[in-house]
Amino acid sequence: MAKPVNAFTCTACGATHRKWAGKCDACGAWNTIIEEAPLSQGPGRGLGTLKGKPVPLSGLATQDAPPPRAQSGIAELDRVLGGGLVPGSAILVGGDPGIGKSTLLLQAAAAFARSGQQAIYISGEEASAQVRMRAQRLGLGDAPVRLGAETALRDILTTLDAERPDVAIIDSIQTLWSDQIEAAPGSVSQVRATAHELVTFAKRRGTAVILVGHVTKEGQIAGPRVVEHMVDTVLYFEGERGHQFRILRAHKNRFGPADEIGVFEMTGGGLSEVANPSALFLSERGEPSPGSAVFAGIEGTRPVLTEVQALVAPSTLASPRRTVVGLDSGRVSTILAVLEARCAIPFAGLDVFLNVAGGMRVAEPAADLAIAAALLSAREDTSLPADCVLFGEISLSGALRPVSQAENRLKEAQKLGFSRAILPSATKGEGLAGMRIDRTPDLTSFVGDTFGAG
Ligand code: TYD
Ligand code: MG
Repeated sequence: MAKPVNAFTCTACGATHRKWAGKCDACGAWNTIIEEAPLSQGPGRGLGTLKGKPVPLSGLATQDAPPPRAQSGIAELDRVLGGGLVPGSAILVGGDPGIGKSTLLLQAAAAFARSGQQAIYISGEEASAQVRMRAQRLGLGDAPVRLGAETALRDILTTLDAERPDVAIIDSIQTLWSDQIEAAPGSVSQVRATAHELVTFAKRRGTAVILVGHVTKEGQIAGPRVVEHMVDTVLYFEGERGHQFRILRAHKNRFGPADEIGVFEMTGGGLSEVANPSALFLSERGEPSPGSAVFAGIEGTRPVLTEVQALVAPSTLASPRRTVVGLDSGRVSTILAVLEARCAIPFAGLDVFLNVAGGMRVAEPAADLAIAAALLSAREDTSLPADCVLFGEISLSGALRPVSQAENRLKEAQKLGFSRAILPSATKGEGLAGMRIDRTPDLTSFVGDTFGAG
């Protein structure tokens, strides 16, 4: 039997090490390894005596109807959950401090309670009076939410076990502590243990448990990655500080499509839903200007139009700036390299700034063509046609690859008044009546057709 050793755990990936090190071998992160009390030791003699009880096994063809989902009535939230809250599911909502997690979940608790669900909100960060005051300010004072302020896991579980609510919200997982673990609240072992207990409770009692988790500066939920694996659904609440808009994005969902987004606006009266995000993200667009291209994207199951903005200026630096906000910077470097190598359009000696308007984040490769168009338009100081959207993936050879759901993208563009689209030649479908479709096989022809001689 191995002698019990103090475990050293990486806070980024959850890997355990026998001794402290500056760098985690498993994930390569620096300064993330911390010392923890050893996990409780099992019998340690293997499972030779096998005293367990048999697990009931069943076939795949069971006819159980899927349990009804609980809808909050906040459509943007229900959509991100995959159509509502599944009873007995565990959900983690992550986000930067101050982004609006507590506000969102208080509004959600009130909405669930008003639609006839039993909802309990446990705050470990604020006193009940504070939460009540906020609820009143948000006009939720009359919602039948049951409120508690507690951080001791044992007391919380005892309460939940007695009340058996339909939904329990725990704000936040970093404030909870279990008396079984000798470590401070917020430490890896506490977060892991308390999350595990709450997820187990959810499965056993059929209560949907929503955990709030703060994220670290690196953008990960503080505590080990294992918490993300334990829960059924991981949602991130994102947004730029300077913007009103907040995006709730499903990173993982066992009960619905990942990458689904819900869009909210932070107002004086709390978060309000944004039913038409495309109109919102394009609302700041004025006259056509160089460096602006409209991308017809798909977020989850719904088309969303966004504006990609580029600025290209002579650089005084030896290695020019590449500042990218809202897009994948690796992707942008690739596009710059393809423009240089395949179309002979160099960006050496030029600073490049790229941004997605409205604080939106775009991860689809389908945005490649719009990014290239914005870059070229900025470099050539020529505006793209104002009524034109673009989409298409750029391969390393400079060819344009078709992307999925072309028709949905075009329909959304038409709905918002766009009458022209530039897309890869191989795109399936006929296009829409009343919309001019320009099909291009590769980046070189796109440059020639749109900006004159490349
Ligand atoms: P909060 O929900 O406390 O954030 P989190 O739980 O993610 O830390 O939100 C805090 C911010 O939201 C705060 O800076 C003020 C702003 N806010 C509004 O603008 N309007 C409102 O109605 C509320 C309740 C908060
Ligand atoms: Mg909070």
